[in-house]
Amino acid sequence: MNSTEKPNSTADGHIPDDPLTGHSYDGIQEFDNPMPGWWKAMFLGSIIYAVFYWVYYENGLTPGRSVIAAYDRALAANLKERFSTLGEIKPDRETILRFSTDPEWLPVGKNVFQANCTSCHGNDAEGRVGPNLTDDHWKNIKNVEDLYRVIENGANGNAMPAWRGKLEPQEIILVSSYLLSLKGSNPAGKGLRPIPGETHVISDLDAPSEAASSE
Ligand code: HEC
Repeated sequence: MNSTEKPNSTADGHIPDDPLTGHSYDGIQEFDNPMPGWWKAMFLGSIIYAVFYWVYYENGLTPGRSVIAAYDRALAANLKERFSTLGEIKPDRETILRFSTDPEWLPVGKNVFQANCTSCHGNDAEGRVGPNLTDDHWKNIKNVEDLYRVIENGANGNAMPAWRGKLEPQEIILVSSYLLSLKGSNPAGKGLRPIPGETHVISDLDAPSEAASSE
């Protein structure tokens, strides 16, 4: 059979009228049956559109346009709104202790920790470059309020960075509470970074909480 001749049968006996391409692969021939023009136009159009889309949203020169930036904005707005339901909270012992057992707000403290602290303190605060934060060996922390103070101002030069201005005060309170909730959790991998030298426990952790609730 020569290659431009129509095949004389198909599975259902129907032979389309389309011309043949002239290709023949082991006797298998191909109809010249191109994609419709509108389809090609959409295909090309989407490629051209993608170029403009990319330049507009992802060029990296105009910050704030990417989907990620929009998501971050929405997240921040949502967090602000949630914080507004907390009202004014002070970074005192009573508040930090209260949130350390609050199932509604602990996940927020955990998020703050996961987003900012794990690179140095490990996923479960077991310690990496920074010390284990789940045990009873503390260096800069003598009482509950010191947690807030150290996270806000940093410690040991800038080895422990200061988070003032990078985290909302409420976030620092909630991450302090989260750390207290991890106390004694004994995560795997702890002990990699014991604090050298003398350490102490947080002295006012178990003092009766009524004493501080007068505020
Ligand atoms: C760049 C690494 C790094 C990051 C990120 C970091 N830390 Fe630290 N952190 C350290 C180091 C190092 C120390 C030990 C400082 C010292 O030796 O006095 C420390 C100490 C601490 C201490 C005091 C521990 C003690 O016993 O005195 C607390 C509490 C703490 N970090 C909480 C946090 C929290 C919460 C975050 C996230 C918001 C965080 N850290 C992020 C490196 C880091």
